[in-house]
Amino acid sequence: MAKEASAESFNSTSINWYPGHMNKALKAMREDLKLIDVVIELVDARIPYSSKNPEIDQLASGKKRVILLNKGDFADPEKTKLWVKYYESRGFLVACVNSKEPQTAKVVTGLVLEACREKIEKDKARGMNMRPVRALVCGIPNVGKSTFINTLAKKNVAKTGNKPGVTTGKQWIRLNNKIELLDTPGVLWPKFEDEEVGKRIAWIGSINENILNTYELTLGLCEFILKAYPGVFNAKYGVEECEDPLSLIEAIAIKRNCMQKGNVPDLERVVAFVSDDFKNGRLGKLSLEVPGDRS
Ligand code: G4P
Repeated sequence: MAKEASAESFNSTSINWYPGHMNKALKAMREDLKLIDVVIELVDARIPYSSKNPEIDQLASGKKRVILLNKGDFADPEKTKLWVKYYESRGFLVACVNSKEPQTAKVVTGLVLEACREKIEKDKARGMNMRPVRALVCGIPNVGKSTFINTLAKKNVAKTGNKPGVTTGKQWIRLNNKIELLDTPGVLWPKFEDEEVGKRIAWIGSINENILNTYELTLGLCEFILKAYPGVFNAKYGVEECEDPLSLIEAIAIKRNCMQKGNVPDLERVVAFVSDDFKNGRLGKLSLEVPGDRS
């Protein structure tokens, strides 16, 4: 059962979390899970551990499972390979995808059919009229659930209507005659118990910015990237890199001429665009964790 997440304190960065709406989302998801055969869980390929909510494993027990490392175009390909192996070794069907690309539909169709192969073959052997396999998409905020569903829906225009008696009030997207996708994703709440995990999900934009100290968080992100991927800031902003993230932000302010009155570097403004550049993959293909790091 969901643990009520309380206010967490990350050093000077305070993250307050009110899971009321998440409880509602969870209840809806429990109902949806009764209708489906396979759960397609999206995680962010840059943090495939921190962006995965472990509670889904209990919630979806008995269902076939697919994990998509989404925003694969933002992640370090070498680290992504390790994550694919990691989750495969735990019994999931896994792919790294870019939800904005139409070919993602084909990849996912293959995985879903593979996940449900046993059921499909059994139905066939019994001479049963095979009903389409039904799938639910879920994940924490901002991992790309809506983008993914839209991409699949666009490619497979036929949306099926309500199905009286079975799926009242639900809309399904028919991918082909074998697979249907529930058109409303399940929203999972990020996990907060581990301070480092909390920071990582904030860095990818899965926590409402209004409740964050973006300044402190982004300094932490810069510190992390300076160590893990030296040269990134030099390549992007043309600044000399040093160990201290604050000096780095000041150097970027000067380079970009982000000055306030009195020729003082506008650090808030720099922090905002550096954070945005990371969230949107403009700092390059960077992954922030490898299997075994926290998993
Ligand atoms: P959610 O439903 O899980 O909350 O996420 P959503 O689909 O809204 O996606 C969040 C942001 O991530 C969107 O960008 C979306 O375009 C982007 N995105 C999703 N999947 C991918 C992917 O695989 N690769 C890349 N590069 N981007 C992806 P946005 O800036 O918030 O919106 P928009 O301006 O793109 O519409």
